[in-house]
Amino acid sequence: MTHRTLIIAALALSLMNGCKDGAGKKDNHESQDTMKEMTLARDVHSFGKPNDVAIKHMHLDLEVLFDKQILTGSVRLDLENKTGADKLYLDTRQLDIKEVILDDGSKANYRLSDEVEFLGREMVVEILPSTKHVTIRYETSPEAEALQWLKPEQTAGGKHPFLFSQSQAILARTWIPCQDGPGVKFTYTARIKTDPALMALMSAENGRELNADGIYEFKMDQPVSSYLMALTVGDLAYRSTGRNSGVYAEPSMLEACAWEFADMQSMIDSAEELYGPYRWGQYDVVVLPPSFPFGGMENPRLTFATPTIIAGDRSLVSLIAHELAHSWSGNLVTNETWDDFWLNEGFTVYFEQRIMEKIYGKNYADMETKLGMGSLQETLEDLKSRGKEDDTHLYLHLEGRNPDDGLTDVAYEKGRFFLQTIEYAVGRERFDVFLKKYFTENAFKAMNTERFLSYLEDNLIQGDSTLRQSLMIDAWVYGPGLPPNTPKPESSELDRVQAQVKKFLEGSAPSRLDTSGWTTHHWLYFLRALPDDLSLERMSQLDKSFGFTNSGNSEILCDWFQHCIDSKYKDAYPSMEKFLKRVGRRKFLTPLYERLARSEEGKAWAVRVFSEARKGYHSVSENTIARLLNV
Ligand code: BES
Ligand code: ZN
Repeated sequence: MTHRTLIIAALALSLMNGCKDGAGKKDNHESQDTMKEMTLARDVHSFGKPNDVAIKHMHLDLEVLFDKQILTGSVRLDLENKTGADKLYLDTRQLDIKEVILDDGSKANYRLSDEVEFLGREMVVEILPSTKHVTIRYETSPEAEALQWLKPEQTAGGKHPFLFSQSQAILARTWIPCQDGPGVKFTYTARIKTDPALMALMSAENGRELNADGIYEFKMDQPVSSYLMALTVGDLAYRSTGRNSGVYAEPSMLEACAWEFADMQSMIDSAEELYGPYRWGQYDVVVLPPSFPFGGMENPRLTFATPTIIAGDRSLVSLIAHELAHSWSGNLVTNETWDDFWLNEGFTVYFEQRIMEKIYGKNYADMETKLGMGSLQETLEDLKSRGKEDDTHLYLHLEGRNPDDGLTDVAYEKGRFFLQTIEYAVGRERFDVFLKKYFTENAFKAMNTERFLSYLEDNLIQGDSTLRQSLMIDAWVYGPGLPPNTPKPESSELDRVQAQVKKFLEGSAPSRLDTSGWTTHHWLYFLRALPDDLSLERMSQLDKSFGFTNSGNSEILCDWFQHCIDSKYKDAYPSMEKFLKRVGRRKFLTPLYERLARSEEGKAWAVRVFSEARKGYHSVSENTIARLLNV
């Protein structure tokens, strides 16, 4: 069959399945298996038209210029032209395109559209149906949103500059012209030239030593989506943590990071026992400077992580289990559009919790699950009160919006509880067989919500209408809030904490509470269970007994500081100011600035601190906080 007939066959099939727009909504996996190509659903966040011409491989050749804060060089895009199209549609944003060269060496005509909010500029390259590749010479801008260029003083070592990228969700286009939608997968190679004192790493096969010539070659020969393109450059060193795992960090942090991540290898082993082989060879983590805007980012073979998980007691390592789990849910089986985001994150939280349970036991996983429900309920109430109930559906409608705005706790936690509901209904054993099969059969493919639901029907529900009804699938996926069959997380450990909260609220002095054996999770539950109108006296007692203001644990600090703001407990403000200026992780910044902005005095303080801190933030965090404070 030619590609064109394949497309027509796919269209016909999807029509037969009741899909009006031919967007592949109801193609089930059999049609995928029997046909090599799959029609991708329309991605409202990309100008790419991959159903006509798709990028199959990319070769990047870039030089890293720290003094100008730009990447300069070229990308060669190897194409598969499925329909004999004479135009290639790409996503670009903030890029300076120099020229486009076709495979015969001739210059191609191209045009760039006007800038569209969030999406950037559509780039249309005139090609021939026979064009096998195009080479684009270009330069990034110092403002490129995906890239953060750090001065030496923003690093642990203080001597060298640092660069890292963050491509998810739609920022890859700010450093590589490409088809920047998660449904498009390609392999890549790269040659990165940088200052010989620095090491370059990508989401690919990485070296472990500094190269004297400053030239690094990379290879990723399994297909990945553009949001998984990643680069970091800095004063980095490597330490192995097991058979196929290890950590990169600045030299002064390396020891502490390797200690913190001692269980990484057993996480990989547990994940493989659960859902089949790890398909990417090596699994490493690079611990970045504190301005990294996320907790973690699942870049293939090389998770990018915030140093705020280096707590000194291994209590925040579930983040590693999470990013590792994405090696199956997300990196292998990938949400086709950002409206299907829960397929990435909900599956990953579920998987993460299963890894944690295997390694640290049920009590531990139960605590995390119950804490997860707490934050989900808070998110649901908040979205409801702001009239954004549509954002509490698992399947999202992000058209016309920055996907970044729609990506909330809902995909993570509601997604997890939906999967847990299925697990409880069919039993763990059956559900695990199903999930393993799902990851295996859909590896290196894109998945959308409709297709997942028909896969679920075909492979698990299998016509059992009692089961189907009991799952309440439509309410979970297309409805608001939490359906009545939501599991109720129980944790005996956190019940212990609840009893102490009660004692405290009845007037007991903090020093009289029984906190023996409490870990980070107990403390987080304790802090979240406290009311938000504690008196200054109670705050000060708590601080004296438990030393929250000087905690070395970023999660505890973030929850404590929220109480400090509510109660105007000024003793903690110097420490909070330091925290806000050092850490750029958006999950911590957002609730703090948001709470500060509730009072006039708080807002003035927040605006002042933000004005001093913002130059140290990654644009992802900076934009969120600027919008929040209206500055
Ligand atoms: N893939 C996400 C990060 C992300 C999502 C970046 C959407 C940009 C857009 C990553 O796997 C993640 O979920 N990170 C969490 C940590 C996790 C333990 C919940 C984070 O950064 O806090
Ligand atoms: Zn995730």
